[in-house]
Amino acid sequence: MKVGILHNRVTWEIKRLIEELEKSNIAFEIINNQNIYFRLSKEKDLEFQFDLILERSLSYFRGLYSCAILETKGYKVLNNFECLNITGNKLLTSLKLIENNIPTPNTYFAFKEDASMQAIDEGLHYPAIIKPIIGSWGRLIAKLEDQNSARSNLECRETMGNILQKQYYLQEYLSSTDPKSPTDIRVFVVGDDCVAAMGRYNPEEDFRSNIALGGTAKKEEITDEIRKISLNASKAVNGEIVGVDLMVKNGKFYVIEVNGTPQFRAVSKASKINVANKIVDYIIRNYKK
Ligand SMILES: Nc1ncnc2c1ncn2[C@@H]1O[C@H](COP(=O)(O)OP(=O)(O)O)[C@@H](O)[C@H]1O
Ligand SMILES: [Mg+2]
Repeated sequence: MKVGILHNRVTWEIKRLIEELEKSNIAFEIINNQNIYFRLSKEKDLEFQFDLILERSLSYFRGLYSCAILETKGYKVLNNFECLNITGNKLLTSLKLIENNIPTPNTYFAFKEDASMQAIDEGLHYPAIIKPIIGSWGRLIAKLEDQNSARSNLECRETMGNILQKQYYLQEYLSSTDPKSPTDIRVFVVGDDCVAAMGRYNPEEDFRSNIALGGTAKKEEITDEIRKISLNASKAVNGEIVGVDLMVKNGKFYVIEVNGTPQFRAVSKASKINVANKIVDYIIRNYKK
């Protein structure tokens, strides 16, 4: 068996995956997407005969488009194009979650500043959350405290934003009433298993709990309820290896996003679970020839 790892930077995650592949005597090749080109065709014409390609690009578009091309060529890519396409886009993710009756926060969508103001006034009220539809690490996610802050955020997007920033994805603000409970929970799903979970706590000066923004993490117990909603969310987006982000409202879990190229450094450290080993084990069980 030969595994390809497509990437644009050798991250901590890729180093751990390499270690685990070596331990299991699985042949692999790491492919930097910056150094290659594809001929668009139905031929499996990459330099090596891969049985499986792990898509680990940090760049959303590179990962998505590489996957599209590779699948047309007949390669098996993890995650698949459908999953990367849905999970890379918060609007498409919300729609899939709703279609599959998976609890997700009340969300509105508009194409113009005034219509967005109206959606908040009539549907969400303040504070409300605005998110870029494509983006990660909490970047450009803002809490709109009142009409003034909403106007200025929307006006900035309308006048300075690129086309993606002019798609207004607006969401109810969820806040934990218990200061001891995490701001959100990241569950790492591999196949039919929730292999690890961490509670993330936002830093004092920011409502967002992304580790990239200074959030801290602790191991989180995977209850039956957490397992069920996370596996359902993964299935809804046709995922195999995904990170599911959960928040709590009135004691009930809501899925806020599903990540199709999830990092796993923080969750591995917090949970003391070797996530890379779980991924390689899954690959061997399901794809080894
Ligand atoms: N509806 C919400 N209410 C309150 N906080 C939120 C909400 N949605 C997201 N957040 C906070 O912002 C962080 C990033 O949001 P998320 O939707 O996961 O986007 P990203 O892809 O950038 O991680 C979350 O981890 C959480 O702390
Ligand atoms: Mg997130």
